[in-house]
Amino acid sequence: MTTEELQSQAVREIEAAGNLEDLKNIRIKYLGKKGLVQDLMNAMRELPKEEKPAYGQKVNVCKQAIAGALDERQKALSVLELNKRLEEEKIDITLAGDQRTYGTMHPLMMIQQELEDLFIGMGYKVAEGPEVEQDYYNFELANIPKDHPARDMQDTFYIDPNTLLRTHTTAIQMRELEAAHGQLPIKLICPGKVYRRDDDDATHSHQFMQCEGLVVGEHVTLADLKGTLKFMADRMFGEGRQIRFRPSYFPFTEPSVEVDVSCPFCGGKGCSICKGSGWIEILGAGMVHPHVLEMNGFDPAKCSGFAFGVGLERVAMLKYGIDDIRSFYTDDKRFLKNFNRFD
Ligand code: PHE
Repeated sequence: MTTEELQSQAVREIEAAGNLEDLKNIRIKYLGKKGLVQDLMNAMRELPKEEKPAYGQKVNVCKQAIAGALDERQKALSVLELNKRLEEEKIDITLAGDQRTYGTMHPLMMIQQELEDLFIGMGYKVAEGPEVEQDYYNFELANIPKDHPARDMQDTFYIDPNTLLRTHTTAIQMRELEAAHGQLPIKLICPGKVYRRDDDDATHSHQFMQCEGLVVGEHVTLADLKGTLKFMADRMFGEGRQIRFRPSYFPFTEPSVEVDVSCPFCGGKGCSICKGSGWIEILGAGMVHPHVLEMNGFDPAKCSGFAFGVGLERVAMLKYGIDDIRSFYTDDKRFLKNFNRFD
């Protein structure tokens, strides 16, 4: 085959190539190490000496022409293939997107975090403890010995005679007091789950959440307790709350009080939620019993303390107007959605 013939055959094939892959094969077929152009080159060996230069030149021209045609076609095919891909992979940004649902913060966790924030702001630390607790921390150290009638106040799930599901987070307070080895001051809150053998109904649950607080130092007084709780009530239920103490009894505090907050719904005038009284009971509190301080290695002559305990469900129910405590534990999305801050 002459160089001209090879060239025009190659150009025809190149022009007919429909994609880059075919073109690559054509390039190998003609310009490859064992390609047809190389065959022409090899044929030079057979020629008489004087014809060689002219022949060599012709082969070169042919080779350049094929290479040029290949390059040109390659450019054209690249553009075509790119356009084809752009067309195929086009994204229609006007299509409706996937609906994504977000998880929500559980209302009890929201209350817990609010309390943590406000107490951390006052220099408290947040303490934790085990839910499966020793009788010793839950009762004994809290001034509730085995035969004490106050044990009946909290019906307890026992695992064995010395192990139970904690009935209040006071157990955490006792652990912290003991671990402090008489070092003052102590300033902590302890949020967590607690368990009592109650029949579940709209206002009772065998498992609920508490957040208790404890401050021990020199000259800690009932007035400090009142100021702290007033601050908490204002932050949790809105500025301008009033609080009042009513005498009560807890074995680990003396004196003990029940704390009422002026009704956030009617401002104290009396409504269905506060049952006309203008007050809502929110927590139990008191001055840490001297015997509790003593048992935990503190000298009641040199220090004093206050403690309080609030039920998170109760606060959440008041704050969000929830009337059945069981709503918190059902995992019902329709309930949780009310607290979705992303909607
Ligand atoms: N531990 C008490 C309860 O669970 C609450 C409380 C805590 C009362 C601290 C007084 C002081 O009911």
